[in-house]
Amino acid sequence: MRIAILGTGHLAEALGACWVRAGHRVTVAGRVPERAEALAARLNRAALPGARGDSGAVAAEPAARAATPRDVVRGADAVLLAVPWDAAAEVVEAAGGADGSWAGLPVIDPTNPVGHGVGVVLNPPGVSNAQRIADAAPGSHVVKGFHLVPSTQWGSAGAETTVVLCGDDPAALETTSTLVRDAGAVPAVLGPLARARQLEEAAGLLIALAFAGVDARTVVPALPPVQV
Ligand SMILES: NC(=O)c1ccc[n+]([C@@H]2O[C@H](COP(=O)([O-])OP(=O)(O)OC[C@H]3O[C@@H](n4cnc5c(N)ncnc54)[C@H](OP(=O)(O)O)[C@@H]3O)[C@@H](O)[C@H]2O)c1
Repeated sequence: MRIAILGTGHLAEALGACWVRAGHRVTVAGRVPERAEALAARLNRAALPGARGDSGAVAAEPAARAATPRDVVRGADAVLLAVPWDAAAEVVEAAGGADGSWAGLPVIDPTNPVGHGVGVVLNPPGVSNAQRIADAAPGSHVVKGFHLVPSTQWGSAGAETTVVLCGDDPAALETTSTLVRDAGAVPAVLGPLARARQLEEAAGLLIALAFAGVDARTVVPALPPVQV
């Protein structure tokens, strides 16, 4: 796949590295061209044969490159919005999403619209950040996900890491599920994008517990999976 990543920070680098190692092509963009160029260079080093036990095949083109926000989604199969929650709509607009050019594109929203250390959801009641992003990019297919996993876990994630997703478009959910598997984890689709607020509240709870020094695994009971 060709994956566009907006943002050049921790999550962009962690997931970008997983995806280039899985053989995808990643294009990154941010506000400062030099930061995007530097991240693309690091991702190309991460993709080198032997960088992390890959097949050793030599790619015909670089695994990663930098682009401007306007160009980053051109030809992309999916977009990751790895930016602060309150900048997401502005970033979508700067990348042309408001004019309808993102129509049909799967847009992965990993943002956590919660107060740092407190975990209170900062959007008005009933409003999800995922829906705000969908409203900013008419016609795109937003999928909420990747927001509950710390960036430091990517690269060593395995079957014990489940990435909960929600979204309205089956093809976008399938694309995102593939990207979850290619990052080493297991996808679980919760339902439509209307469930995104619940997933964002869940992030607030987990963040609040972490800052209170509580291991969330001791709070959530080990309910056996229910077959329906
Ligand atoms: N890190 C994690 O463990 C983690 C886990 C789950 C979810 N998330 C979510 O993923 C998103 C990114 O997190 P992160 O940890 O990667 O953050 P980060 O390291 O701070 O990176 C965010 C990137 O967004 C861009 N950015 C920052 N402020 C911006 C603004 N006002 N307008 C436009 N772009 C801006 C910056 O790239 P440029 O300067 O190049 O534009 C920056 O590198 C957040 O919404 C976070 O809640 C993070």
